[in-house]
Amino acid sequence: MNPPADFDPEKDAGSRIPGFYKLSIPQRRAAIAARTDHDVARIAAALASGGLDPETADKVVENVLGLYALPFGVALNVRVNHVDRLVPMVVEEPSVIAAASNAAKMVRSAGGFHAEMVESLMTTQVQLASVPDPARAVRELEAHVEELLRLAAAAVPGLLERSGGPREIDVRDLGQGFLVVHVHVDCCDAMGANLVNSVAEAIGPRAAELSGGRLGLRILTNLCDRRRVRVTCRAHAADLAIGRGELRVEGSDVLDRVVEASRFAELDPYRAATHNKGILNGVDAVVMATGNDWRAVEAGAHAFAARSGRYAPLGVWRRDGADLVGELEMPLALGTVGGTLRVHPAARLALELMGVQSAAELCHVAAAAGLASNLAALRALATEGIQRGHMSLHARSVAAAAGAVGAEVEAVAAGLADAQTVTLEAAREYLGRLRAR
Ligand code: MEV
Repeated sequence: MNPPADFDPEKDAGSRIPGFYKLSIPQRRAAIAARTDHDVARIAAALASGGLDPETADKVVENVLGLYALPFGVALNVRVNHVDRLVPMVVEEPSVIAAASNAAKMVRSAGGFHAEMVESLMTTQVQLASVPDPARAVRELEAHVEELLRLAAAAVPGLLERSGGPREIDVRDLGQGFLVVHVHVDCCDAMGANLVNSVAEAIGPRAAELSGGRLGLRILTNLCDRRRVRVTCRAHAADLAIGRGELRVEGSDVLDRVVEASRFAELDPYRAATHNKGILNGVDAVVMATGNDWRAVEAGAHAFAARSGRYAPLGVWRRDGADLVGELEMPLALGTVGGTLRVHPAARLALELMGVQSAAELCHVAAAAGLASNLAALRALATEGIQRGHMSLHARSVAAAAGAVGAEVEAVAAGLADAQTVTLEAAREYLGRLRAR
């Protein structure tokens, strides 16, 4: 799909805010408020003390002592299905947000990301044990699918009102007297864990009766492979060039090296694990920012990556003429209603800033952030190496840890990066010299 004829990828508009990283936090909040028609005071209030107060936290989990905050940033330049998105990310690792923004800019020049849900059904499992005649039990369960679907639907009346609900049932014979019944449920804009667990519990006793076996576990599967997101993108070779002077690598060479890096991950599970970690850097940060369950996402992603029996990369890269093209497909169960969103103002703010209207759109954006992170990592790894960019950003947190404040942080970080010694001791020394000037 080509971008609209009047689309200008360089224009300071939508998700593109040149020089954003140089602003102070209040200036950044003001810029985002202006861009999203938000009240800057509301942004500040939603993010105060990590977006949650201890009293609320005490109602969310048990034995609460306090709060534990993480940085909440925003990735820029992201355009998905021709719509610009500011992408809130919560992550503790330096360079993830900058790298995703940087790669998204390259993709933006070529029209942005294209994303879709391949399917949107959440799957729950009912385990049946000690089934005396599994073949007969499978036939019996399959003959009663309509009845089981009715029982399942009755367990989630609110979901039916929103036009969701149980859609399909299938039965698997695991051997050794174990059967498992899968119920596939359209959870609309909810992540759906509670909904599908209710469904499993509702049909469990009747399924056990039909099978002649004993009722076992009733719980969702995080390998939600009927709820997958697929995102594709391209980047022009010219936009991929990296480095200066003697260290410069031309775009076309970078392109080939990224494809080679992709092949490496396709051939080697050891590399694929790290490749996928780079993808999840982007996905998880969006999942966290929007109050979703990142453990569920991780479990599903890795199980899906290993579905062929050999652990494989979730995203791959190829050459298409003078362009690099990338494709990522993974299970992704995210919600834009319910769960943490009920209690967490910062998670609600994240969704508003992103401007997504549905869980599907949220999945599109999270997956785009994943593919952007993957591109940024491979481009750096295949050329100058990851440490250069990483270290200059890491230097900022070391500078702050050494006591640098305000403009001192950038000055000390630049000094550390130039000297290629990013240690607390060096930062303290540099700060001392800076202040003595
Ligand atoms: C670091 O958080 C992520 C990378 O290791 C990903 C990769 O190797 O592709 C840089």
